Amino acid sequence: MTATSRGAFIVIEGLDRSGKSTQAAILQSRLQGPEQSTTKAVLIKFPDRTTTIGKMIDAYLRSQSEFDDHAIHLLFSANRWELASTIYAHLAAGTTVIADRYAFSGIAFSARKGLSYDWCRAPDIGLPAPDLTLFLNVEPGVARTRGGYGEERYETEDVQRSVRVVFERIGEEMKTDGQGQWVEIDASREKDLVARNIWRVVEPLSRGVASSLRKLWE
Ligand code: TMP
Ligand code: MG
Repeated sequence: MTATSRGAFIVIEGLDRSGKSTQAAILQSRLQGPEQSTTKAVLIKFPDRTTTIGKMIDAYLRSQSEFDDHAIHLLFSANRWELASTIYAHLAAGTTVIADRYAFSGIAFSARKGLSYDWCRAPDIGLPAPDLTLFLNVEPGVARTRGGYGEERYETEDVQRSVRVVFERIGEEMKTDGQGQWVEIDASREKDLVARNIWRVVEPLSRGVASSLRKLWE
């Protein structure tokens, strides 16, 4: 890291069971390197189920409570806003931040229910913008065969198929509107190969970023 650089903000997105959490952990340990004494990379997961808002989201996902579709959408967004200052602080300290899901999941999972795409995007406008978003692309049929699928709300093949359609729209828009890089990764491949393909894209950012951080969709 040079005197003027900051940490990179890297988001990992994808369907449920696309391998996001596994790959985020591999990436973090790779960025962290052998020197464990200084923190070079932190991993943040959305939803962050540990906060007060996160606990409400967790109960909803486990079907222990119900919310109006708009209300739960806003809670997911609020859960990102409550972590925004933490993200800024890490980046300013030169630490790379990896987010396991972000605003793109927020849009994809709510717009598929029929909520307006623009309405879904609005509450996340102004959040820290990622320098790079890795979209782990996997066929919903492949994801379904992976362990743990089907335990939570949204973990059905039908839902995932419609979520994927919205993700495709988001990816197209991100590629054309200069909102940082959106890179698709074939997540149906073997774990180590996926990790290598991810590292190839992340490596140039691993020593810090010189440009100032942007705000999402502003
Ligand atoms: P997880 O499986 O990564 O813990 O995410 C929980 C579920 O919440 C997953 O099905 C995606 C969904 N989700 C939303 O509906 N809106 C959001 O803003 C986020 C971050 C996740
Ligand atoms: Mg899940």
